[in-house]
Amino acid sequence: MSIPQDFIQELKSRTDIADIISGYVTLKKTGRNLMGLCPFHGEKTPSFSVSPENGFFHCFGCGEGGDVITFIRKIENLDYVEAIRLLAQKAGMSVPEDGQDKGLADLKKRIYEANREAARFYYKQLYSPEGKEALDYLRKRQLSDKTITHFGLGYSPKSRFELVNHLKKLGFSGTELIQANLANETRNGNPIDRFTDRVMFPIIDLKGNVIAFGGRTMTDMKPKYLNTSETPAFNKSRNLFALRFAKQKANGQLILVEGYMDVIALHQAGFENAVATLGTALTQEQTAIIKRYCDEVVICYDSDEAGQKATQRAISMLRPAGLNIKVLKVPNGKDPDEFIKSHGDQGPARFRLLLEKSGNDVDYRLAKLLTQYDTENTEQRIEYVTEAAKIIAALENSIERDVYISRLAGEQGISKEAITQQVRKYQRSNIKSANNRQFREIKDNISASKDRINTEKRYKLRAATAEEGIIAIIMTNPDVAVDLFKELPPDLFVTSFNRRLYEVLKSHAERGYDFTLTDISGELTEDEIKGAANILASFHRVNDARDAARDYVKILREEAEKLTPEQIAQASPEELMKQLERMKKKKQ
Ligand code: UTP
Ligand code: MN
Repeated sequence: MSIPQDFIQELKSRTDIADIISGYVTLKKTGRNLMGLCPFHGEKTPSFSVSPENGFFHCFGCGEGGDVITFIRKIENLDYVEAIRLLAQKAGMSVPEDGQDKGLADLKKRIYEANREAARFYYKQLYSPEGKEALDYLRKRQLSDKTITHFGLGYSPKSRFELVNHLKKLGFSGTELIQANLANETRNGNPIDRFTDRVMFPIIDLKGNVIAFGGRTMTDMKPKYLNTSETPAFNKSRNLFALRFAKQKANGQLILVEGYMDVIALHQAGFENAVATLGTALTQEQTAIIKRYCDEVVICYDSDEAGQKATQRAISMLRPAGLNIKVLKVPNGKDPDEFIKSHGDQGPARFRLLLEKSGNDVDYRLAKLLTQYDTENTEQRIEYVTEAAKIIAALENSIERDVYISRLAGEQGISKEAITQQVRKYQRSNIKSANNRQFREIKDNISASKDRINTEKRYKLRAATAEEGIIAIIMTNPDVAVDLFKELPPDLFVTSFNRRLYEVLKSHAERGYDFTLTDISGELTEDEIKGAANILASFHRVNDARDAARDYVKILREEAEKLTPEQIAQASPEELMKQLERMKKKKQ
């Protein structure tokens, strides 16, 4: 499917690359650009640069680069059209689509609308006479009115048709309500309320759409929580409860809990960086989302066995994503909500203490490891210490290592020196493998810097550099570009990659389109986009772009006049003479 150029232009004008990328990478302003840690290769010092002005990103470390569309494609692993769609959604635009897709987009919109009206309805019910029991229930659970409103909690009445009737009056069809999973379908095809006599928790995405509901029974009925099933507008593995609040307050850290009530209790207690999955184990997609908003996760699951298993699982998902992990253990088998409530006024302060005490996961892993050995048995004790040394060796901070070594030594009655030696041994082998990895990365970068994309560049460095200057000026100075297009025929470009870029830019201009990287990216391959971003990133701003452009064009003309070795061999005597004359003139 091809997307009209006009649409891309409009989308581009409504999209701020810095804004989009900030959703994934923490960016700091340095001069005109923004810098951060590259999300496409592991690094500790920022070499990832974003130019809001010129609409591109480039990593000086790994060579990745492109416009906002490339960025979304890479980071979300989407194809071109999907990336456009996502950006359009963020910009509040709808992509001109073919029939079926348009149908889906419209349906989603209708579901959001129906859900929003349903949330309003449930909220109103909560404060009606019929909702008294539910309101009492929430108050018994110590939720304030402010919290209830903040989370938009509600009540679904007992009658099985109230919501359906209400929404039908508002113009929603039975089919729409069934598709939104707000209603079930009876045997004769009629819609009937899905949620009855439950406390309702709306699930709201980052854009503020009500995408689903969780409904808790106030009795012993099963299931305890009834959730919206998957609908065209709801994918439970791609969303997190309360993320839209938590991301504002994350400040580098999110608290991951199991239940809606835990999240709500924590937010009310001032821990507004708490989120929960939606009744499932943590998924890969959720891990990626979490990674966007923080670098540290405090896992605070129930302390029962299921909770501990879930903790292990969450660690094994979050750690490879490069997140720092802490495990907060709530004492006495309570969940965070119960813990806070059980301490009354002191609840928040006590939870704060737990939070601060929650070690990083080394503590957790050591404790876990310990349970696997019977340290009364000398052999097993040595095995435990050896394994523990491996964990400690992976720590980067020497003071931290020392703390753990001392603790382990004291705990197990083994000399500190012996453990230190063991740790050093593992450290050396860790360093070796890290070095190998680093070496590989450097090597890859060197070969990339040979310019894989413009392979002619190294033989024609002078001309290629001038060409790049011209391309960069065109993409960043439309006024100068207009004159350049008139004056500079593509033939003057020596390297074919740069010539192709120039031709694409020129043809966009001729068709009356804009010609920034984003405008032309639809016509380029991924490698070409990368190459173009690289050109932009390597180009240093000039005071007078028009002047600079003139110089570059001069260089191109000079280079064009030079004869290649083949031409020299085949040139007629007259041609040779002419060439020599020209060179002489230039020297004077
Ligand atoms: P819990 O059973 O731990 O509930 O389930 P909770 O959050 O502590 O709730 P309260 O305090 O009893 O009210 C944790 C989460 O698992 C999902 C919900 O998302 C819930 O918040 N869940 C649980 C379901 O989806 N369905 C269920 O039947 C139970
Ligand atoms: Mn609970």
